[in-house]
Amino acid sequence: MIILAIESSCDETACAIVRDKREVLANVISSQIGIHQATQGVVPEVAARAHVEKLQIVLDKAFETSGLDWDRIDAVAVTAGPGLLTSVMVGVNFAASLAWIKNKPLIPVNHINGHLVSASLGLPEEEEVAFPIAILSVSGGHNDLYIAKSYPEFELLGSTTDDAAGEAYDKAAKMLGLGYPGGPMISKLALKGDAHKYKLPKPVLKKGYEFSFSGLKSAFSRLIEELGGIDKIGGELPDLAASFQETVNELLCYKVSKAAKEFDCKEIHLVGGVSANLNLREKIAEANPILKFRHPIDFGYCTDNAAMIAGAAFYVSKDKWLQAGSIPSLITWS
Ligand code: KG4
Ligand code: ZN
Repeated sequence: MIILAIESSCDETACAIVRDKREVLANVISSQIGIHQATQGVVPEVAARAHVEKLQIVLDKAFETSGLDWDRIDAVAVTAGPGLLTSVMVGVNFAASLAWIKNKPLIPVNHINGHLVSASLGLPEEEEVAFPIAILSVSGGHNDLYIAKSYPEFELLGSTTDDAAGEAYDKAAKMLGLGYPGGPMISKLALKGDAHKYKLPKPVLKKGYEFSFSGLKSAFSRLIEELGGIDKIGGELPDLAASFQETVNELLCYKVSKAAKEFDCKEIHLVGGVSANLNLREKIAEANPILKFRHPIDFGYCTDNAAMIAGAAFYVSKDKWLQAGSIPSLITWS
């Protein structure tokens, strides 16, 4: 079966075509980062308008890349939520119109479930993932720890009580006078820094599976002030970046490793935008030498993308599919 998917829940406009759960035939992403840099964050109305402009372009590109035409597509999938409402509705209306015109069923997909299956995208057909899996999904908008007993049986263990890890990276980068998004800039600077130069408070010792980054953020801000403020820290940037990264990644690694142990997991998956962080990947792999550790095999499956939405669509039961011509405002996700 071949599914074409549309993703527009935040600031990436994306279209992908996936065969049989994992074989990615096209994964086209148009990022709005350039648009949102001026405001240092996403303005929903601006994001929704940009999706309107880009959807047809990414759709055409997905067909061009895959070499397929509409006759080969069995169903259209779309992110139905969660996300920025106006952005989601642009994608839903586009996908519903396509499904109607082309007479295909429409599959509403939970965006989070997309991230949760993204580490299996592109794996060879014969390579089975082994359950249970501890899945850490970390991006600018989400920071969730799940146990997957199967696909799509996901049990949420804990989320963040304040910022998501990616958001914390972005805010720390802003304090250091770096650009947006901050995660990639901090991790690049950190390569040249001493991760143990500055001691920051470690929320790792808190019990349970909730995450919190607000204390760390305040401490980081105070540290920058103590060092003389943003104009005086030029030479310290690599050490500050490395120390911040070390603290965040240690927390993330600690929690996911703890969950994997407690729930007797066979695998650990790290997904979402922050899964692009190489230091975090290394930490988790080193802390769990006996378990199979996976992250999305392509950077294009880490950030928001439509391949993961198509991948998750294969697990949506048929009674949730909408027939061509259904009213898209009634769409929900589960
Ligand atoms: O999944 P994504 O594209 O969008 C959201 O749903 O937010 O994730 C973007 C987030 C940003 O916060 C960005 O700073 C973070 O992922 N990120 C990273 C790295 N690459 C992206 N964080 C840490 N290290 C990285 N290498
Ligand atoms: Zn996402």
